[in-house]
Amino acid sequence: MAAGYFKRFRMAADLLRIRRPAPLPSGYRFVPWNEALLDVHARTKYHAFRDEIDAVVFPCLGDPEGCRRLMREIRDKAGFLPLATWLIVRGDSPAAVDWCGTIQGVVDETGAGSIQNIGIVPGHRGIGLGTALIERALAGFRDWGAARATLEVTADNSGAVRLYQRLGFRRQRTVYKVVDGVAQRPACTAPAAVAAVASLFSGDGGLTRDGGHDW
Ligand SMILES: CC(C)(COP(=O)(O)OP(=O)(O)OC[C@H]1O[C@@H](n2cnc3c(N)ncnc32)[C@H](O)[C@@H]1OP(=O)(O)O)[C@@H](O)C(=O)NCCC(=O)NCCS
Repeated sequence: MAAGYFKRFRMAADLLRIRRPAPLPSGYRFVPWNEALLDVHARTKYHAFRDEIDAVVFPCLGDPEGCRRLMREIRDKAGFLPLATWLIVRGDSPAAVDWCGTIQGVVDETGAGSIQNIGIVPGHRGIGLGTALIERALAGFRDWGAARATLEVTADNSGAVRLYQRLGFRRQRTVYKVVDGVAQRPACTAPAAVAAVASLFSGDGGLTRDGGHDW
């Protein structure tokens, strides 16, 4: 079976230098973590990731049940941090709410805050929700007492890389994620992402068979 190699950046930010979280656009509001919202996080994650490159790198993100499993795994981690785990919703009545974004945070064994997944549902992007959600999670890490936050991002996800850089994250290392059978994944539910993968195979596009190394 052929394998794809995806280049990913590990990035870190100093939490002493973060700014106050940006206000949300009118009509949107933050919803804090609550165990009863695990499924809402999972569904929002699925809608945010299903057509994206990360659903190829991590196939569970392109599958509703995979997102549910992933959410349970994150919630069960020893360092799971409700303070850095948020949803964004639009609308007030239970019958007419739009779940627009999700982020989850974990404190790792070194005491750094680690962003797990941040996703904004298409249709709500480009108006500052991603920025606000990350800043909300970073404030949660800082309130917990962390001095540093980390994350990993697929190098080809240029919009996300730009967003993180703007928020103070800097590249620390490059790592490579091996994905089996990525070139022949006819049942993949991520057509845009599959096209992106095909373009990686046709050019250099950061695709490499080298192991991870420091920057
Ligand atoms: C990456 C992602 C979270 C960004 O979310 P977003 O809500 O679109 O982010 P923002 O709106 O804060 O910023 C996006 C762009 O809109 C711009 N923007 C923000 N507020 C704006 C406003 N009020 N008016 C105009 N533009 C605005 C930002 O400057 C940014 O521009 P850039 O792409 O040129 O840098 C989203 O695209 C996503 O969910 N992608 C799929 C999942 C994913 O890949 N997640 C990251 C995994 S590591």
